[in-house]
Amino acid sequence: MSEVADFKPGLEGVVAVETEIAEPDREGGSLRYRGVDIEELVGKVPYENVWGLLVDDDPTSRMPDPEPYEPVRLTGNAPADLQAETARLAGDWKLGKLNEISDEQAREDLGRLSAQMMTIVARSARVADGHDGSISDEVVAQGATAAEKFLLRWRGEADPRHAKAIDTYWICTAEHGLNASTFTARIVASTGADCGAALSAAVGALSGPLHGGAPAYVLPMLEEVAATGDAARWVEEALESGERIMGFGHRIYRAEDPRSRILKRTAKELGSPHVDVAEALESAALEALQKRHPERVLATNVEYYSAVVLDVAEIPPSLAPAMFACSRVAGWSAHILEQKKTGRLFRPSARYVGPESRALSSLA
Ligand code: COA
Repeated sequence: MSEVADFKPGLEGVVAVETEIAEPDREGGSLRYRGVDIEELVGKVPYENVWGLLVDDDPTSRMPDPEPYEPVRLTGNAPADLQAETARLAGDWKLGKLNEISDEQAREDLGRLSAQMMTIVARSARVADGHDGSISDEVVAQGATAAEKFLLRWRGEADPRHAKAIDTYWICTAEHGLNASTFTARIVASTGADCGAALSAAVGALSGPLHGGAPAYVLPMLEEVAATGDAARWVEEALESGERIMGFGHRIYRAEDPRSRILKRTAKELGSPHVDVAEALESAALEALQKRHPERVLATNVEYYSAVVLDVAEIPPSLAPAMFACSRVAGWSAHILEQKKTGRLFRPSARYVGPESRALSSLA
């Protein structure tokens, strides 16, 4: 009875799991992975070791290099390719069900899958660019970090500015508690499914504009604002027509999103040509949102300056959700393992509000 009375649309504020992985500090505006502030990680620990910190609680551990594998079919639509190929890997690699394998085996499966998922995105992006052939493993092996290897596999070259932009972005977005995609991964893991099923389901959840897809809308928005030259008017018109301004608002933070702060700094350091218009739009949007919603903080979220940083690395907006998935393989993997160790099958309740019992003939 009590769960029916406690119905919360969108489960806002409902504590569904206990976790030791990440702690978004909603009032103080910081984010810690296993207790370590991400400010300490960016620029010092490469993404693949942040993966190790999140999954193994050990920054000297790392995501492995991908093993040779030929994806079955890449269309160039990266989220769709990633979801399909990740699910298929479970079959090709004969991955065991989480309720039948050891924690060590699950950790190994997650490492193999994470590394391969990055490869799938890089290769899908290459297809989208119109290239048929793939880059040889020897060339890819010349990269020192996962970000460099990703770029080499995609483009055959790794500009250091691009690699820094991607590494910073991946670290900032590697994990963030129980959002929609992570919850999805945990729900699937809670059924005892294999790691490929849990990760591919998470990719689907991440592809919508309200979760991981917002950066895809931010750059076109900045271009529109730059063309009008009047950020305040653009914001007023957008809000008047009932639009949401992409890159603002967050379910958790009631202060500045710390990731936004780091990404903005990085965009400046890397000399992004969009920083000026982004700052103009940001202050116009914050002022207008504050006026319209004085009751809640609608601040800049991670996806706003993510779009600007990804643009430094010449990532097309359409690839943004898949880039987010690449970074989040760390958080998802950590949560799948945590779910396996401590979790229980998810089975919430629904309050029935449909028609009363009636005869089929009454519908005629
Ligand atoms: N632009 C304009 N209005 C916004 C807004 C935005 N970015 N974010 C929230 N609002 C408004 C809503 O329209 C709503 O107004 P109403 O009560 O008059 O209808 C109010 O604020 C509350 O919105 P709600 O959707 O309940 O807030 P939330 O905390 O659940 O939403 C997001 C969180 C992220 C879904 C939401 O802020 C959003 O859609 N942002 C844009 C998409 C985005 O940047 N996503 C990436 C998230 S990391």
